[in-house]
Amino acid sequence: MTANASSSKPAHNRTIAVIGLGYVGLSLAVALARTGARTIGFDIDPERVGECRQGLDRRGEVEAHEFVGTTAEFTHELSALADADFFIVAVPTPIDEARRPNLRPLVRASETVGAIMRPGAIVVYESTVYPGATEEACLPVLERASNLKAGQDFEIGYSPERVNPGDKVHRLETIVKVVSAQSDAALDVIASVYESVVSAGVYRASSIRVAEAAKVIENTQRDVNIALMNELSTILGALGVDTMDVLKTASTKWNFLNFTPGLVGGHCISVDPYYLTHKAETVGLHAEVILAARRMNDSIGARIARECVKLSGKRGAPLRRVTILGLTFKENVPDLRNSKVFDIIEALLDHGVHVQIHDPVAWPQDAEREYSVTLTPLQDLTPADAVIFAVPHAQLIEGGWPLMRSLLPEEGGVIMDVKSVLPREDKPQDVTLWRL
Ligand SMILES: NC(=O)c1ccc[n+]([C@@H]2O[C@H](COP(=O)([O-])OP(=O)(O)OC[C@H]3O[C@@H](n4cnc5c(N)ncnc54)[C@H](O)[C@@H]3O)[C@@H](O)[C@H]2O)c1
Repeated sequence: MTANASSSKPAHNRTIAVIGLGYVGLSLAVALARTGARTIGFDIDPERVGECRQGLDRRGEVEAHEFVGTTAEFTHELSALADADFFIVAVPTPIDEARRPNLRPLVRASETVGAIMRPGAIVVYESTVYPGATEEACLPVLERASNLKAGQDFEIGYSPERVNPGDKVHRLETIVKVVSAQSDAALDVIASVYESVVSAGVYRASSIRVAEAAKVIENTQRDVNIALMNELSTILGALGVDTMDVLKTASTKWNFLNFTPGLVGGHCISVDPYYLTHKAETVGLHAEVILAARRMNDSIGARIARECVKLSGKRGAPLRRVTILGLTFKENVPDLRNSKVFDIIEALLDHGVHVQIHDPVAWPQDAEREYSVTLTPLQDLTPADAVIFAVPHAQLIEGGWPLMRSLLPEEGGVIMDVKSVLPREDKPQDVTLWRL
């Protein structure tokens, strides 16, 4: 018996293989192993597998103590999956340069599963897709690679992941898990596997397509609501009215929705809507509101850069140097993928401004290797005409005004508080403050 494994096997009695050990898959594999189920985590990236074996999750979702005594096995060898009879696929679903769904990782993972699975297997997809993708794009690959027939020799299901990176409250265990399948019998097994780990319980969707659509609209709804806030902040900013003051006031009405303006990056909210709009195109529909929202949210980085140039000009000093605080796609996570802070940087560079970036949470090697961005340690930052406080990591909020002011020259400068986290009443006299 290991330190944190359950003493008895769960009722479903399945050997689980989790395909893709990213944000979603690794947490899931470790949690399932904790229930006593034999769990094998598979990833094509040997470096990632090596880190998991050493109990290291550089993305910070699984903490070191959760690895202690885990019975989860980590591998990049296909043969290690030979005993599995319940597969969970959690690989990325990105978009290509034309913003069309890129199902290659999903197809490749389906080939992997198809090559090793035996009759009686159940394959559940967790990746975010458009309605129909699991049955139209993945199922035929499984059948081809396995020489087995769905519904007869094996079953498929879909259970969208709803975790929120960096959120310690809404976690796998505490978020109701939507489950779906092609048959009632498979749905029962899928439900019992997830019930073994999700204390909040499961919701049985009426079909795989319904579950797929539900997931993609959850993120689309957020995207559209944030876009509305971003548009309002553009209008209110031009009118000289503080957006956050307005939102706080409007929120006193019982049914006013709680959204705020901001940069919308990452690999979920800024990507998933394109899966839906792509599928809409295939039935001759142009998703006007969703795509307008996408354009609005994608324009915010450039707008922040423009405002920064303008405000510095108003202070009588052309903008020469800017410090950006925070580079990751959201606060308190090290993930840089699709961060919209890069849009701010690009726009400032276009204006000929020198940019230095500090992020206490991002991995400097990732910034360097994947984005050719060199992070500057706090103590090495040169005083700049403006500071763009782009991502409010807890450590930076803690530094508050003393930190912000220390990054400006003696005569003061501009502070762009993108998420409005600095207390306005404490603003130093010589600072021009801007909030989105
Ligand atoms: N990250 C989130 O918070 C979140 C939340 C809800 C849903 N999702 C969805 O879940 C899915 C996975 O997202 P993620 O953030 O965990 O991705 P990720 O990029 O963090 O990790 C994916 C992992 O899959 C591996 N992989 C890629 N192709 C593979 C293959 N063919 N076989 C085996 N491994 C393979 C990669 O090496 C990587 O380690 C996506 O569809 C995403 O939209 C993510």
